[in-house]
Amino acid sequence: MKVFVTGGAGFIGSAFVRMMLGATSATRLINFDKLTYAGNLENLASVANDPRYRFVQGDICDANLVNEVVEAERPDVIVNFAAESHVDRSILSPTPVFETNLRGTFTLLEAARTHKTPRFLHVSTDEVYGSIDAPHDADENYPLKASSPYSASKAGSDLLALSYFVTYKMPVTVTRASNNYGPFQFPEKLIPLMISNAFEDKALPIYGDGMQIRDWLYVDDHCRAILAVIERGREGEVYNIGGSRSLPNVDVVHKILDAVGKPYSLMQTVTDRPGHDRRYALSSEKVMRETGWAASQRFEEGLKATIDWYRQNAAWVARVKSGEYQRYYENNYANRAV
Ligand code: NAD
Ligand code: DAU
Repeated sequence: MKVFVTGGAGFIGSAFVRMMLGATSATRLINFDKLTYAGNLENLASVANDPRYRFVQGDICDANLVNEVVEAERPDVIVNFAAESHVDRSILSPTPVFETNLRGTFTLLEAARTHKTPRFLHVSTDEVYGSIDAPHDADENYPLKASSPYSASKAGSDLLALSYFVTYKMPVTVTRASNNYGPFQFPEKLIPLMISNAFEDKALPIYGDGMQIRDWLYVDDHCRAILAVIERGREGEVYNIGGSRSLPNVDVVHKILDAVGKPYSLMQTVTDRPGHDRRYALSSEKVMRETGWAASQRFEEGLKATIDWYRQNAAWVARVKSGEYQRYYENNYANRAV
């Protein structure tokens, strides 16, 4: 399979690239990535010299470059990971979110339409369903109700992608995953931020009462599900991908502090995220039934592996936390303690 991946230098995209090149799944893999603050070629050091791998630095909004590469490479499948992926940044600065997540997805869909790409998988999120009232789990027919610029942009790009199936009969599929965790995640997201702050004895900022619920999915389980959907999913369909492990944020942070041997007093309540969704919960019954995929990583083991990775990769963490990260951190967290 000749695979064109966007956003392959980010957290999930790089895990997917490593997985595809680690097995015989890809005969050729093109990674098209702008290298924003979240893109990091260090994440791909293990595959950089693989003769099947080609890296192109580019913006998915750049129609000329996207078309040039898709025309030259003629991939069997485009997998669109590229996005501005952080909710807090989307609140502070929505413009790049709409550019990349909406216009970028549109640009890719147009390139796939022009060059008749046989398969297009758009990687999306459970956030498009908004907060889900207990005891329900959202299936793929649950109404869309976005709460942040990030989730609205993902919901919009999902609908755009699906419209290309309806209108142009393009072979588009959308996946919606729950919260991912694992190695190489940028330390703006809950789990790596709490791990790295705890290592440094820095305050752990808890939004509001910390009782918001997220469903945790190990990143490698997510990548296996995406491959299963490429191979066995139906065109024009949406597939939820959840980890079946829902926890309140405070429980996740307690587990991290227990594992690293640091006191709960490091936790510091800060003002809540505006528009903060209370609970995400997914039904993954469809992807399991139709593709045979199932999540395999138990949360406690995945969390331990993740903490070990951050402990062993302190230099990676130090590099990504320098420069721009410091400005973002100050911008997002200053004067929020309550
Ligand atoms: P990330 O922020 O770690 O990585 C995003 C990557 O996209 C980076 O390499 C960045 O350089 C690249 N990128 C950004 N804008 C680009 C542009 N205009 N052109 C080309 N490349 C660009 O994100 P992630 O956490 O790996 O998420 C990947 C995808 O999965 C996103 O679409 C996100 O919405 C979705 N998703 C994420 C999660 C999660 O928990 N992280 C859960 C469900 C779905
Ligand atoms: O649900 C899937 C989504 O998960 C993905 O689509 C997004 O790309 C990804 O960023 C993630 O979004 P969340 O907003 O759920 O993840 P985040 O790690 O930012 O926050 C998880 C929870 O932790 C959320 O309830 C907010 C809370 N939180 C987060 C941070 C960064 C805190 O309490 N303190 C923090 O400092």
